[in-house]
Parts: sequence; C-alpha cells; structure tokens
Amino acid sequence: MSDDQRALARARARQFALDAIAGGDPTSWFDALYRSASGDAGAIPWARLGPNPMLVEWLGMHHIEATGKRALVVGCGLGDDAEALAKYGFDVSAFDISPEAIEWCHRRFPESPVHYAVDNLLALTDDWNGRFHFIMEAYTLQALPDQTLRMQAAKNLARCLAPNGVLLVICFGREPNEVQASLPWPLSPDDLAIFPQCGLREVSFERLTDAEGVKRFRVHYEPASS
Ligand SMILES: C[S@@+](CC[C@H](N)C(=O)[O-])C[C@H]1O[C@@H](n2cnc3c(N)ncnc32)[C@H](O)[C@@H]1O
Repeated sequence: MSDDQRALARARARQFALDAIAGGDPTSWFDALYRSASGDAGAIPWARLGPNPMLVEWLGMHHIEATGKRALVVGCGLGDDAEALAKYGFDVSAFDISPEAIEWCHRRFPESPVHYAVDNLLALTDDWNGRFHFIMEAYTLQALPDQTLRMQAAKNLARCLAPNGVLLVICFGREPNEVQASLPWPLSPDDLAIFPQCGLREVSFERLTDAEGVKRFRVHYEPASS
C-alpha cells in the first residue's frame, strides 16, 4: 500500500470513528468500516496481512510453552496474529466485535484451527475466567475512546488469564507529557496503569519504534499472584 493510500484509509477510518462516537455508540464503526471495505484490505488501516512483527519478535525471544495451552486474541481483525499463535502451537480462540471481520477471517483461513467468534471485549463470558495461558491484545484498547471503557476491558482480560498466564499488550505509545493525538489515541504508561489496578503485575515494559518511526509500547503482564 502506498503512503497516500494508507493516509486515505486512516482518514476514512477516523471519520467512521468520529461519527460513531458522536452517535453515542463508540464501537459500532468497526463493522461499518470492514463492510465498506468490500474485501479490500487496503481500506483497513491496521491490516498488515501478516502477523504483528512485535508479537513475532517477542515469541522468538521468550520461547514460551504452547503445546496443550490456550491463547486468546483480542480484537483479532483479519486474523493474522491468531494464525501465527496457532502455528506457534497454541489452541487459539480469537474474537472481534465486527461480524464482517470474523467472516473475513473465515474466508482468508478456511482450514484454520483457530476458534473465531464475534464477541465484545467489554462483555466477555465468565466461561473464559482463568482459561487462557497467553492473551494477545494489539491496538484494541486504544481504539476505545475513554479510560472507563479501557478499565472495563482490562478487568475482563485480567480475569481470563490462567494462573501464570501471560498478557501481551502492544499499543501506540505516548509519554505523559506528550499531547494526546487523534485516533488511534496512543496510550501513556499512566493509561496502562489500569492493568496493575486489575491484579496484574508488569513483568516488562518496552518502548519500541516501528518501521514508520512511530512509538509503540510492548508490555508483558502476569497475574500478580503468580
Ligand atoms: C485497531 S484494530 C486492531 C486489529 C488487530 N488487533 C491488529 O492488530 O491488526 C481494533 C480491532 O478491535 C476490534 N474491536 C473494537 N472494539 C472491540 C470490542 N469492544 N470487542 C472486540 N473487538 C473490538 C475492531 O473491530 C478491530 O478489529
């Protein structure tokens, strides 16, 4: 995708988001955006059609046990991170609030062992409590417009972790003294304090820069009791 196409896709997504927020339903725009793309991944600004390099790198560095373990991918989009975790050896569940995104995953990966589902991070089933050994969250929290919704999301993720489980959060990052930009609302270390407030301990906090020179945070959490 060219820089111009990417900028156009971002501007369109921002407009979808602003309209949804103004209408009082801040998560409704994702499905509308996926549908409007009509199968063109170039219209989805975050679609890489490959796994997140910061996830791949992290897995390569940590060599965590995956055989017989369950992983959960939050806001899975077009499914690349879920597929990567399945190849790594996890039994993977992946969900997204957008039915169109989930249908798109099925179309892209018809033979996939991943359990794809439509679900809402803000209202996850209690059946998932303590169930997942690895949870991957990339860029969903920061697409939620306020800290109250992010806290609800953090509580839900914390309760889905198995004892000794790992939650890996990857987000656009900003320092507390940096002005809050527009969507995708980079998160500050203070914003991410919601996770320790939900009973998780921070194992590592990395400040990274992506290929476009944009600051990202990659944070590894585990239950405080483990
Ligand atoms: C910025 S995209 C990131 C997608 C993917 N994680 C990635 O890194 O490519 C955020 C994703 O989260 C999904 N999403 C937003 N709010 C959600 C919610 N409350 N529950 C589940 N998924 C949600 C959106 O549909 C979208 O696919």
